[in-house]
Order: sequence, then C-alpha cells, then structure tokens
Amino acid sequence: MSRLIVVSNRVPVPDKRGTAPAGGLAVALQSALKTRGGLWLGWSGQSCAEDAVGPLRTVKDGNIEYALTDLTERDVEEYYQGFANRVLWPICHYRLDLAEYGRREMTGYFRVNRFFASRLLPLIQDDDLIWIHDYHLIPLAAELRRLGVKNRIGFFLHIPWPSPDVFLTMPVHDELLKGLTAYDVIGFQTDHDRNNFADCLARQDMGHRLDMTRFVVGERAFTTKSYPIGIETTEFAGLAKRAAETTLHKRMLQSLDGKELIIGVDRLDYSKGITQRIDAFETFLTRHEESQRKVTLLQITPKSRSEVPEYEAMQRAVAEQAGRVNGALGTVDWVPIRYVNRSLRRPALAGLYRMARLALVTPLRDGMNLVAKEYVAAQNEDDPGVLLLSRFAGAARELKDAVLVNPYDVEGTAEAIARSLVMPLEERRERWKSMMTVLCTNDVFAWCDTFLEDLAGGKAEESGSH
Ligand code: UDP
Ligand code: G6P
Repeated sequence: MSRLIVVSNRVPVPDKRGTAPAGGLAVALQSALKTRGGLWLGWSGQSCAEDAVGPLRTVKDGNIEYALTDLTERDVEEYYQGFANRVLWPICHYRLDLAEYGRREMTGYFRVNRFFASRLLPLIQDDDLIWIHDYHLIPLAAELRRLGVKNRIGFFLHIPWPSPDVFLTMPVHDELLKGLTAYDVIGFQTDHDRNNFADCLARQDMGHRLDMTRFVVGERAFTTKSYPIGIETTEFAGLAKRAAETTLHKRMLQSLDGKELIIGVDRLDYSKGITQRIDAFETFLTRHEESQRKVTLLQITPKSRSEVPEYEAMQRAVAEQAGRVNGALGTVDWVPIRYVNRSLRRPALAGLYRMARLALVTPLRDGMNLVAKEYVAAQNEDDPGVLLLSRFAGAARELKDAVLVNPYDVEGTAEAIARSLVMPLEERRERWKSMMTVLCTNDVFAWCDTFLEDLAGGKAEESGSH
C-alpha cells in the first residue's frame, strides 16, 4: 500500500491541555487517518517574523506523523485571514457582500501555496499518494507539478462550491480553476457542488467532459466526483452512551431541573445562521408562551478566526442578541439561552447531544455539517431526539428524514421547533432509524476509502514518478 501524505492548513495536533481545534476537517481527517496512518503536513498555528521561519517540526502521534510549519505574520495576514477567509470563504458560502478582494492578499495566497510546495517536495517519495484539503490550498498541486512532482495528487473541498454566477465574481477565478486541473481526483461534498464546478469549467470554455466524472483540460485528464464526508458513527454512538456516567452529564441534568434541552453547536461563523436561529427560538417562545420556562437552548459556540473583522463583528452581535433575548424573556429562575463561547471536548459534546430533545443545525450554507451527523449518532434508540436541519447544509442531501427548514424563514423555523418538540415517539424512531442507516453506511472510513481508491486507481497523466 502506498504511503499517504495529507496536506491541510489546519492540523489537529493536540495542545498541552489535550484539546484539538473545533472544525470538521480536523475532526474527520484525524478519524480517517488514525488507522491507515500517514504523514500530515500543515500550519503549526504559529506566526513569526519574516526571517524566523525555522525547519519543519515533526510530532508522532500513533500512526500519524505530523510535519508542522510556521508561517510569517505577513503570510497569515494575507493568505489565511486575507484571501482564504475574506475572499474564498465568503464567496463559496454565497456571501458576495462580505468578500474583500485585494491584490496583496491574493498574491500572498499564491506565495504561501508555493511555500507549502517547497516544504513538501523533500518529503515526497516515488509512489506516495498526496491528498490536499480545502480552499486554502487550491493551487498547491499546480505548484508541485511545476517542481516536477508526478505522483497522483487528490483534492477534497470541505466547503460548498458555488454556482458560476457567484464563483466568477472572483477576479482570479481562472487561475483557481486552472490550478485545480493539476489534480488527478477532485472531490466535493455533494453532487450539487460537483455540478457547480463542472458548470464553471463549461462557462469558461475550459476543456471538455469525457463522461459523467472525467474531464480533459489541455494536457490533463482528471476525475471529479462527490464524496460526502462522514463521522465515526459507531464510535461516536458509544461515546455518547458512556457519557451518561460523567460528572458533567450529572451536573447538567441537575441544572436543567426537568426542562427540555435544545442544543446548537457551531463555530462562531456567519455561515452558521446563529442569529437567525436565535430569532427563530425567540419567535417560538413568544408564540408558544406555554413553552417558556420548560425549554432551554444551549448554544455552544467556540470563537473562530477572531482576527478577521467580519468574525469579530459577529462575536459582538451574537453575544448582544443572546443577552437581549435572555433579558426580555428570562425570569429569576429561568434563562432561555445558555450561551457558551468555549470549545468542548468530544466526549462532553456527545453526552450533551444525547441529552438534548432537539438539535438546531441551521446554517445559511454549509459544505456538510458534521454536528448534524454527530447529533443523530449520539441518540438513544429507544427515545431519540429530533434533528432540525437547514436544507442548505450538505448533510440535508443525505439526512432526508431530518426536519428540514429554510433558515431564512424565521417564522417557519419557529413553527418547526414547536412541531419537533411534540413529535410522537414512533415518528422520532422511524426518522432516526433511517438517518442512522445512512450514517452507518457512509461513515468517515468509507469516505476515506472511496476517495483513496479513486486516487490510487490510475497512473498520473504524465507518466513516471517524480
Ligand atoms: N466541535 C468540537 N467542540 C466544540 C464545537 C465543535 O469538537 O466545542 C467539533 C464538532 O464536534 C464537529 C466539528 O467541530 O466535529 C465541526 O464540524 P462541522 O462540519 O459541523 O462545522 P465546521 O466547523 O467544520 O464548519
Ligand atoms: C471549516 C473549514 C476547515 C477549517 C475549519 C476551522 O471546517 O472547512 O478548513 O479548518 O473550518 O477553521 P480554521 O480557520 O480555524 O481552521
């Protein structure tokens, strides 16, 4: 079996307290890699002065060897905070109004991709499979090809790929599209994303389609398919079952004092629809007064990308909004929203999911959304809770038995909350069973195996190895 090299910007190296960053990419890839093993290159999370970037730092953890690079302060500002998170992220999430395109940031993005290529090159052996992840590193394969790398290289995009009308607003769209053609396999979360990508190629008159999945652009042929990412379904279900024994679980039950728990878990990101969700919860409480004092929304929202202005503004907006609702509706012995700004570890999360009667997963746009899948996996099969899910999350294309909502429709979401809280046991069981079948069939291991089978399944288009 070929060695696997994974490259992503974010790498889940546990810190001194044993916590890893919240985020679907890190969580899923770590699960997928721990049995297969491999080398994982990424950013250390540290920035340094221009002339102080040291050698790669390596850390071994089980089967995975992490190779971590620092980036300069300028790199972080231009590539990560700038182009990746103020241009690509908003555009791929259909927020053209938030995109702040600048040539300096764009140049920094391509420069850091070249830098990643130079760090990776000495580590590559002849028949390694190289798997690159997410929007930070789209041009990496093109940079590696320029350095003579002939290995098979795959790319998986964890976030949505928007329709051509949206994508083509980006001034460097052709460079990015062209860059993607240097891969052998390009994976998306859903067919919808894959089709949007194919439509972008067609709109730009780039190459032609050989069949459903194969394209040729210039000298290169590549495969593009959807590979919906999954979770460690069985393991997560076990984790949730065991959580009932922990002190946190007991403390939480005690503090609820018989009230029903509703849960929301999201990085503090404008794509997650948190403000619309709080509006919907408030509307539900005001229209169903009998539910006041009987339910509590626990919103767990670790801070994310706080140096990016749009995220900083959102931190303030959500905190104010939660405070306002609590002030308006709360009583001396009842707080409608418990708002937590910290990242929780997975065993604690699993237990809270299991305790919650309802999960509100209402992103305005999301590549997949693993929280939705984790919530389902964590349920008690005898008395499962209800998943209320945005139809704009990739997960909605698989979890068709969730209660699907349009998060922009605040009143519709409020009514869906009311319906979900009184859903009969029989219906809850049926919906849960059908969703669980999907999650067990397409777990994170199946996702990884399917992608790697396709990646290993052919020879690089230009013959030989690097
Ligand atoms: N997560 C976590 N601790 C938290 C909040 C989230 O470990 O306090 C994890 C969560 O369990 C999930 C991931 O972070 O596995 C979030 O992935 P998702 O696909 O839902 O959203 P993303 O953050 O990648 O946009
Ligand atoms: C999403 C992205 C990942 C990213 C994660 C956390 O899941 O798809 O690439 O790692 O968010 O964001 P951060 O900026 O902290 O890495």
